[in-house]
Amino acid sequence: MHIHIADTPGQVARDFAEFFENWLAKQDKTVSIALSGGSTPAVLFRLWAEEYRGRIDWERVHFFWGDERCVPPDDEESNFKMADDLFLSPVGVPSCNIHRLRGELPAEAEAGRYGEETEEFLPIAHGSPVFDLIMLGMGGDGHTASIFPHQIELMQADSIYAVAQHPVSGQERVTLTGKVLNNARHVAFLVTGKSKADKVEAILNQEEEAKAYPAAHIRPAHGELYWFMDRKAAQGVEDKV
Ligand code: 6PG
Repeated sequence: MHIHIADTPGQVARDFAEFFENWLAKQDKTVSIALSGGSTPAVLFRLWAEEYRGRIDWERVHFFWGDERCVPPDDEESNFKMADDLFLSPVGVPSCNIHRLRGELPAEAEAGRYGEETEEFLPIAHGSPVFDLIMLGMGGDGHTASIFPHQIELMQADSIYAVAQHPVSGQERVTLTGKVLNNARHVAFLVTGKSKADKVEAILNQEEEAKAYPAAHIRPAHGELYWFMDRKAAQGVEDKV
């Protein structure tokens, strides 16, 4: 596991962008990346658009989503809309590189269809598609992608994507399941803010309570795990790493 701590959320995004540029330079083909929603990726997407437009060969990068809210693509809640507004459109990423999870379609059917799209596009190993890089956030309740603590069984689900529900709003989501998350070559958490500190501490110190948090079950079986955090999120682990 690689732990990276920066001073501010802006610096977390900056450090991840630099990591990504170096990482991509070492890959000898097109790569697949699963994006997440959330506030830290929003900072990253702006940075990619402002400073990395001509610095990265975006045609080499195929974009998928690790999770999506079941809303139309022009809805403010859509993870696709956020990425598209802030980064994909401004940078001019070719549309054939954008593999959108269609949040406007019936969730169960779309989870199946999108799983098939990933199976067709990505290499298969150990029985599941292999993403080159999965970007994840973590909620204050320990959820990641859209696997929330009350549906932690989705970590073990057989399907590639599954339907999940937000525990408070009841909003339907489509999310990658644990076996695919843990089958990626590289998985990177981007986590910022004080509200995440307790969960980060419990997870990285492997405390008993962390078993209830989906984010604690992200351990790539054949890949590398990275945690990019700001000092506020990492306050409970900082002295120990
Ligand atoms: C989503 C996410 C989700 C997110 C976390 C952290 O669509 O909501 O993919 O897992 O990454 O909730 O979000 P913040 O970075 O905004 O705290």
